[in-house]
Amino acid sequence: MSTDLYDKISNLGKRRGIIFPAFEIYGGVSGFFDYGPVGALLKRNIEDRWRDFFVNKEGMVELESSLIMPSQVFEASGHLSHFTDIMTKCTKCNRAYRTDNLLNELGIECREGMKIDELDKLVEENSIRCPECGGALTKSEPFNLMFQVKIGSYGGSIIGYGRPEVAQGQFVNFKRIYSAERERLPLGIAQIGRCVRNEIAPRKGPIRLREFTIIDYEIFMDPENTSYSRIKLVEDQKLRILPISEQVSKTNKILEVTIKEALEEGIVKNQVLCYFMALAVKFLDNLGIPSEKQRLREQLPEERAHYSSETFDQEVWLERWGWTEVSGHAYRSDYDLRNHMAHSGVDLRVYKAFDQPKKVIKAIVKPRIDVLETEFSREDAQKIISLISKGDQNIIERELKTKGFYELTGLPPIRLELKHVEIIMEEVIESGRSFIPHVVEPSFGIDRIFYSTLEYAFAEKGNRMTLKLPKEIAPISAGIFPLVSRDGLPEEAKKLYELLQDEGFKVRYDESDSIGRRYARADEIGVPLCITIDYQTLQDKTVTLRDINTWKQIRNKSTELPQLLREYFKNRLQFDELGKPVEQRKNQSHN
Ligand code: GLY
Repeated sequence: MSTDLYDKISNLGKRRGIIFPAFEIYGGVSGFFDYGPVGALLKRNIEDRWRDFFVNKEGMVELESSLIMPSQVFEASGHLSHFTDIMTKCTKCNRAYRTDNLLNELGIECREGMKIDELDKLVEENSIRCPECGGALTKSEPFNLMFQVKIGSYGGSIIGYGRPEVAQGQFVNFKRIYSAERERLPLGIAQIGRCVRNEIAPRKGPIRLREFTIIDYEIFMDPENTSYSRIKLVEDQKLRILPISEQVSKTNKILEVTIKEALEEGIVKNQVLCYFMALAVKFLDNLGIPSEKQRLREQLPEERAHYSSETFDQEVWLERWGWTEVSGHAYRSDYDLRNHMAHSGVDLRVYKAFDQPKKVIKAIVKPRIDVLETEFSREDAQKIISLISKGDQNIIERELKTKGFYELTGLPPIRLELKHVEIIMEEVIESGRSFIPHVVEPSFGIDRIFYSTLEYAFAEKGNRMTLKLPKEIAPISAGIFPLVSRDGLPEEAKKLYELLQDEGFKVRYDESDSIGRRYARADEIGVPLCITIDYQTLQDKTVTLRDINTWKQIRNKSTELPQLLREYFKNRLQFDELGKPVEQRKNQSHN
């Protein structure tokens, strides 16, 4: 049987402690993977790289919030009613399938976001039966992907859920962080954390997991000022975009446009969204995934998450799975804060003072109690009155006048119409305005990015495998090897090992097996440099340095290494320059 890149990487992953299926001794459960010592280091380095790119350089902040949240959070966020996939089951063996995946796997094209009826029609037209036992399939039904948990002991337990995204932590804590961060907008709040989704029959290794690490980055902004000053830094960067129009017409042509063009031509509508998409492309490029192997695909309206009005998926080409989403960039508007405000009763608006007090026209939306009470129960009418008073009156007025209705958040949502209210417009002097910030969300699947990084780093030469990772994210910076384990070489090697460790480098000492085998092991886990201590070291204190990419070797004094390696790992030195004495380099740079 032929093996593909995924097979090779998963074998290497198991053999070298990078990534492997969880609970293997009990047969495993699909959708769960664990990271071994090398994988855990690499994953952390990728996350730290992300931090550098997206948080530190942007002057934004991080949050670490709870994994389990009470049901009210997900009632408000819409996940309880909308976070579903469509499932069918075999009537004979009871196996469950995600209907769209089953059809796709059988070569029947169906997009994400197709409705139950459309999917069942395809199942029927193509006489699809259970691929395992041939049994008939049930009608499809929605299946909520959240894991439910009971919080507390029997008597007082309340229902909670494992978070299916980390973003809700940012929304429920927004007011606190906004105030701690001295009320600035735009304010980006990032969170790197685990979340859980009870996926129906996941069958894509580390690409579709039931427990995974996500980075949700909520950038809160004033809806009346959605510009981002740093956009100028990337204006000329090219993006490869697959817009909706190209997908609908089935031409699927990728447009290569600069960021400036994408914004001017309305291909991407929001500056903040566009800026962070550009950064996402650079970030993957920095991990070794070339930009020509990436594209930004605009999601079709029926594919979008319930909270989004504009979404682009950053996709990477993977050998087994083709174009695969690794990050999503959604315009969440004020959807989440508005809903949490309505459900919690807490005012989540922010206040911005005008430079000078000014006259503004304000809408006052007065509920018509007589009309409400004839159409709704007394209890519902009271709820509507309370929801109107908590809502943004100007937005309610604008939507009622433009669309003829306004959807009040509730379960189920209540449709407010013009006949239910009286609108009074008043001119008042205001010294500021209160509003609900809008949110742009770049969201990254770290496990998918981790796997994609491995796929683009993987190289073979004969039967030798190498992970050519960018050196900045290498799990181990250098291997320290005595040529043989006698004659004082191990002692000399350990001295260097300790020196480099004290200097903050992640180094590994290894004296077992032949030097060739040690090099091969180091190559397989992406160690950029192997430093060998040999007999010459005992005489002149020089060691050899070997480059993972070319296997080329050079010599230098071990005392020069801390300074040289620091520069090398900051990408200020090429490998060949590691062979030059520090003094000579200094003189060269002064001349
Ligand atoms: N917050 C991103 C997602 O739900 O996928």
